[in-house]
Formats: sequence, structure tokens, C-alpha cells
Amino acid sequence: MKNTTHYFLQQKGKRRISMLTAYDYHTACTIDEAGIDMILVGDSLGNVMLGYENTLAVTVDDMIHHGKAVCRGAKNTFVVIDMPFMSYQGSAYDAVMNAGRIVKETNCQAVKMEGGAEYADRIKAIVEAGIPVVAHIGLTPQSFNTLGGYKVQGKNVAVAQKLLNDAKAVAEAGAFAITLECVPEKLAKLITEQSQAVTIGIGAGKYCDGQVLVYQDMLGYTNGFTPKFVKKYADLHQIMLEAFQNYKKECEEQTFPAAAHTFSIDDEVMEKLY
Ligand code: KIV
Repeated sequence: MKNTTHYFLQQKGKRRISMLTAYDYHTACTIDEAGIDMILVGDSLGNVMLGYENTLAVTVDDMIHHGKAVCRGAKNTFVVIDMPFMSYQGSAYDAVMNAGRIVKETNCQAVKMEGGAEYADRIKAIVEAGIPVVAHIGLTPQSFNTLGGYKVQGKNVAVAQKLLNDAKAVAEAGAFAITLECVPEKLAKLITEQSQAVTIGIGAGKYCDGQVLVYQDMLGYTNGFTPKFVKKYADLHQIMLEAFQNYKKECEEQTFPAAAHTFSIDDEVMEKLY
């Protein structure tokens, strides 16, 4: 039985929520088995699955393709799917139609969209259509061109006040949860205390109602830059590299496949073939 938005709202202040990204069936199965509370099919799939430099090229079709695979694996886990760049920025109508397509075609439980008060009308329209929404404020990667890069947000009074106003506006519009990305810990604490929505932090410190990480980052799957807020729970890159190198060596040395990996045939049968 999947949890509901009501359940997550009831947990606020009682139990911390765990969320991880996933983009494929097997990862979703493992996250589901681990009992993680929520899966996010993030548009970060552009970076970590498709090799793009940023998330701007990700399409609704990309999100649906990966979202379907994740939803097939997430038997018990609540799945949120990101609305990609330009799938909601144009109008509330676009937002509802694209959110509706994502839910109808993937069977996910909620959608997530970046932006604050300026997108409150989109959030309200989607929630009124019966689709739960997770908002996303702070560092919003789809706006990195206007933000001037990937930077911590809210370190001065003006931006910190804007984030407080944004959190209030998106919750009033109906978002049941708010992702806080790269926000100073004390500001994230204040937002969490003031908001009726569940805050889910990434680079926002320990006082949020929940945490989210990109699974490749926390598994040490990628070999590149690791953001300050990531804790590596494994070194999957090294494990995979060594396995691939050993496989190559054994292919070359003909020690793989061994008898255990090989099918036999009766000699009598073989003799008749010569
Ligand atoms: O796309 C994503 O993975 C996200 C997380 C960083 C929150 O939005």
C-alpha cells in the first residue's frame, strides 16, 4: 500500500522523510525494498543518465519514459516526477496538461516543479486537477542562466525574504511538500518551522522535514565533481571499474567463461556432426 500526501503531512515534526532519485526499474526496486519513503524521478536524469551538461534539454517524453520504468519497480514507494523545463513555464494550461500526461502515462503519485510565488497559479491549477504537487525553491537548476550559476541561495536578506515568501505562496497554492535546494541551514529551519508543507532538503541542512539525494551521488557512482552537501555511502564507481577491468582481463586470458558458466552437450551428439 502506497503512502499518501496526507500521511506525509501528518509526519511533519514527528518523523524525518527519506527520498532518493531513481530513473530506472532496478534502482526503483532496490529503493523500494530499502523502505525509502519517496522516489523522485528528477530531471537531473539529463545530467546523470543522458550526459547533458544541464537539465534544460530534458523533455516530457524523457520524464515519462524513465518515470514508467520507475513506477513499475516502486511497488510500495510514493513516486514524484519532475516537470521538465518549459513544460509549465508557459501557462497554467500547459502545466495542467503536461502534469496530467505525466500522471496518466506513468502512474506516479505527484509531480514536482521548480519556482516560487511566480508559479503559484500553476501549482493551484494542477492541485485543482487532482494531482499532488511538490514545489522546489532555492537553487532551481532550470533557472541557472538567470541565477548566474549553481550557487547557494538566500544568503542575503532580500533573497532570504523572497524564499520565505515563496515557501508561503507555494504552500498556500496547495503544494504538500517543498524541495529546498542549496539553502543555508538556519534559513531552511525557519522555512520549515513557518510552513505547513513538508520541506525536503538537498544541501539545506538537518532541520528540514526530509532529505533527498541523487542516488548516483550518494553511491559514488559518478567519478566527477561531488557537491559539498553529498555524503557518499558507497564507492560504486571503483567497484564497477574493478569489475569491468577484471572481466576484460578474464576475456583476454580465456578464464571467463569457466565450466560453471558453460552448457554441455553429449559427445555422441557432437561426433555425429563431424
Ligand atoms: O532533478 C533532481 O534530481 C532534483 C533534486 C536535485 C531535488 O530536483
